[in-house]
Amino acid sequence: MEITERIGHDIGAAVAGFDHATASQAEVDAIKAAVYSKKIVVLKNQDLAPQQFLALGKLFGRPETYYEPMYKHPEVEEIFVSSNVPRDGKQIGVPKTGKFWHADYQFMPDPFGLTLIYPQVVPQKNRGTYFIDMGKAYEALPEDVKKAAAGTFAEHSVRKYFKIRPTDVYRPISEIIEEVDTKTPPVVKPTTFTHPMTGETILYISEGFTLGLQDEEGKPLETDLLHRLFEATGQLDEDFTHPNIHLQTFEKGDLLVWDNRSLIHRARHTTTPEPTVSFRVTVHDEHKLYDEVA
Ligand SMILES: [Fe+2]
Repeated sequence: MEITERIGHDIGAAVAGFDHATASQAEVDAIKAAVYSKKIVVLKNQDLAPQQFLALGKLFGRPETYYEPMYKHPEVEEIFVSSNVPRDGKQIGVPKTGKFWHADYQFMPDPFGLTLIYPQVVPQKNRGTYFIDMGKAYEALPEDVKKAAAGTFAEHSVRKYFKIRPTDVYRPISEIIEEVDTKTPPVVKPTTFTHPMTGETILYISEGFTLGLQDEEGKPLETDLLHRLFEATGQLDEDFTHPNIHLQTFEKGDLLVWDNRSLIHRARHTTTPEPTVSFRVTVHDEHKLYDEVA
């Protein structure tokens, strides 16, 4: 196995010769270390059945099965399926997922540390996913903005981007919103936390899931700080040319492992819908999202 870091770039490393069936703990640990330091690691030339993909994921941590059943792979429920290609005339998984800035499970009480994506059908044009490293983005903020964010809390919810399920057709929208708020009530987390693996300060907000900022007593901030943070970090850039934005491309056989604490991501916008299918496994590593301060 060989790990090659992208020279001159903060993000990205590639791994050649990784075989999950024979991998040693030392190899897995080396890949994880590269994920935390380079944020995205691409395992090259992977040829895996769904069960094997899950087995590979388990080497990196404890899998989290997505809470909404319609995303599940029909045979391996731990696999989340994003697909616009029907199988035997049937929709499998969910099409057009994640076309907004977010960290996976940011709206949940206990988000996982690592996301693994294994593209199955790779679009010819417009392939790739946009990423922003929210540790680097925090570092680049003006001092007065950092100071304003310190000690504040952010409220996250899936409400804005919850996808209507086939079974929701003909249900009143108010009833669906109420169900979303009951099943996945908004969560409150520190606006910044210390990455337990790297010690970096992470600005943990996203345009897709973060609804607002509040003080330590839970009182909403009467400022435009959240908007300023979205703007300064590049999340409002509709052309995706902001220097914080990294476009990660991939080819068939690539398996991406990324740091879901540091990175927010967004599916690439396409004007011409092309067939695209990808499988996702998400895992908890040795730490919570951040270590609680005693
Ligand atoms: Fe995602």
